[in-house]
Amino acid sequence: MKHLLKLMDLSTKEITEILNLADQLKFEKKNGIKHHHLKGKTLGMIFSKSSTRTRVSFEVGMYDLGGSALFLSARDLQIGRGEPVEDTARVLSRYLDGIMIRTFAQKEVEDLATYGSIPIINGLTDYCHPCQVLADLMTIREYKGACAGNKLCYIGDGNNMTNSLIVGGIKMGMEVSVACPKGYEPDAEIMAWAKENGKFTCTDSVLEAAKGADVLYTDVWASMGQEGEAEERKKIFKGYQINADVMKVANGKAMVLHCLPAHREEEITAEVFEAHANEIFDEAENRLHAQKAVLVKCLGGK
Ligand code: CP
Ligand code: NVA
Repeated sequence: MKHLLKLMDLSTKEITEILNLADQLKFEKKNGIKHHHLKGKTLGMIFSKSSTRTRVSFEVGMYDLGGSALFLSARDLQIGRGEPVEDTARVLSRYLDGIMIRTFAQKEVEDLATYGSIPIINGLTDYCHPCQVLADLMTIREYKGACAGNKLCYIGDGNNMTNSLIVGGIKMGMEVSVACPKGYEPDAEIMAWAKENGKFTCTDSVLEAAKGADVLYTDVWASMGQEGEAEERKKIFKGYQINADVMKVANGKAMVLHCLPAHREEEITAEVFEAHANEIFDEAENRLHAQKAVLVKCLGGK
């Protein structure tokens, strides 16, 4: 695997191999077994948006693997003053062994991969969040034994999370349902692909989507970059929430996931959040293990 730009680029086999390696690295870390697969390697981490989980888990991940990580705020790089991505990519390729980037446009990530000569990992764009969904799939396997055969229901904005969850869920054999207000649906091409390649529905009815779900998922109503729309979105998204009524129509043993950060009483009630805190924080922890697997696959050579 050269890059991780989006989950659509990975086969079911490749996703499964990443999850298997993530499980192994998690077991080794928990048992104090060192695994310096990336000894002496350096990862550059470019951030154009805020981050807690992605930044810390990538940095600790590189350390665990025997390498090191550099935090690069886009604001302080020349890229923030207009230096072209194609030049930045070629320069950074001479210093680093890989780049993780969190930015707005998916094209910027794809361009880094095109013009650079080192592995590029997408740490979130407006279009998708593949690293998060690998951790989500890992967590679903831990709790449910497998992804296949389970129904994954996403409630809320059809955003970067939704796009990656649809692709990851369908590729791993899950039924995927999405509930979002009209006009806030996920990417049209991804939805068309999902309908052709698996069991997928998108509706504006929360209870219809949640019926019989084994995994319920939600994310913020206003993503990074949409702060100016936050008040308007509070009105539009009202009711697109994981709450006790939603839990009643889901499978009795349904698990609840949230990529975090969460806004209690908006997309999820505090009651449901706390009742499922173990799952949600295991999910956050699994960012570390899943990304270490991605780093080994992309930066580790043969
Ligand atoms: N879920 C996630 O990507 O969190 P951060 O924004 O804190 O990195
Ligand atoms: N949709 C959210 C996800 C944060 C991890 C955002 O883009 O801000």
